[in-house]
Amino acid sequence: METLILPGEHPDAVRTAADIIKNGGLVGIPTETVYGLGANGLDEQAVAKIFEAKGRPQDNPLILHISGPEQIEQFCHHIPQKAYDLAEAFWPGPLTMVLPAKECVPKRTTGGLSTVAVRCPDHHIARAIIRASGVPIAAPSANLSGKPSTTTAQHVYHDHAGKIPLIIDGGACRVGVESTIVDLTEERPRLLRPGGIGPEELLAVLGDLVVDKAVTAQVDKDEVVKAPGMKYRHYAPQEPVVIVAGSREKAAAYIRRHFQPGDRVLCFREELPLYEGCGPLSYGEEADVNTLSAGLFAALRELDDPKIHQVYARCPVGGGVAYAVQNRLKKAAAFHIVDAEEEE
Ligand code: TXA
Ligand code: MG
Repeated sequence: METLILPGEHPDAVRTAADIIKNGGLVGIPTETVYGLGANGLDEQAVAKIFEAKGRPQDNPLILHISGPEQIEQFCHHIPQKAYDLAEAFWPGPLTMVLPAKECVPKRTTGGLSTVAVRCPDHHIARAIIRASGVPIAAPSANLSGKPSTTTAQHVYHDHAGKIPLIIDGGACRVGVESTIVDLTEERPRLLRPGGIGPEELLAVLGDLVVDKAVTAQVDKDEVVKAPGMKYRHYAPQEPVVIVAGSREKAAAYIRRHFQPGDRVLCFREELPLYEGCGPLSYGEEADVNTLSAGLFAALRELDDPKIHQVYARCPVGGGVAYAVQNRLKKAAAFHIVDAEEEE
């Protein structure tokens, strides 16, 4: 199969994408967070193709992308007021809500769960494709399972060329890390995955938020977790990654002491001069966390190279989207962190 890349502004882009989705096919779709691999979320056979293309475990459910809060009731029931408050505050945008699923949502989409994740993306092309398809679009991040997510149409092409008919190119993703996921099916709202919306912003609307264990620590493959996706090794280049915490100077001294030929350094742009001779790669500016979230996955993909032995990574501190960057990097590093302030 030949894979066509159409610019989002092409006059046929939205219609062609919608036709493929209506006919049970897969399309690479831009969103503000990462590119998704989209299919008709109500069509079991179409959804099965997503799992196959990604090599995704069957128990890992998909997010249904909808065109606005008015569609929540079509796919969810027992919807608390909090869901409408969150939609009002953050939709369209990088927030996904987990709610009890209606019967019309196939078990393949929900990974066998009785709940479903819904989100309205802040990308006009994505919403235009949802509207033109007339169905909710199930879309995981378009990366091959376990690999860093896709933030450009070229990343999607790299992972799926020859396997899907169409990718819509909507440019590089603005946010660059996936949506924040909140579970609203229990008494207390629970953060299942940090993302484009920071925990403080959620708390300001909800007044209460439990942070799921899977966000802050490695969970075992056999453990039962709320977001099944969180238990798999994720976002990771093939070689080991270690996060080096501490001040700029102490971290650089630590990394330079341990650096071996074949290692790489993933750092902030401001730190590049400190790593001369170590082939440093910057993913954005420490002074502007939005550049870090936007650049993280492209950098991790560049570092996914069998010739590299080990990556030393620098990680931003703080809340907001930095919290999501920390989470993705810690997962890429399998929570391997050294503190340069303490280590020799
Ligand atoms: O920003 C995003 O959310 C992107 C773009 C394409 O919208 N999508 C995305 O999908 O990140 P994916 O499949 O890569 O990650 C979805 C996560 C997984 O960890 C999955 O386990 C969790 O959402 N999830 C989906 N449905 C769920 C449910 N009913 N209950 C708990 N977790 C759920
Ligand atoms: Mg993903």
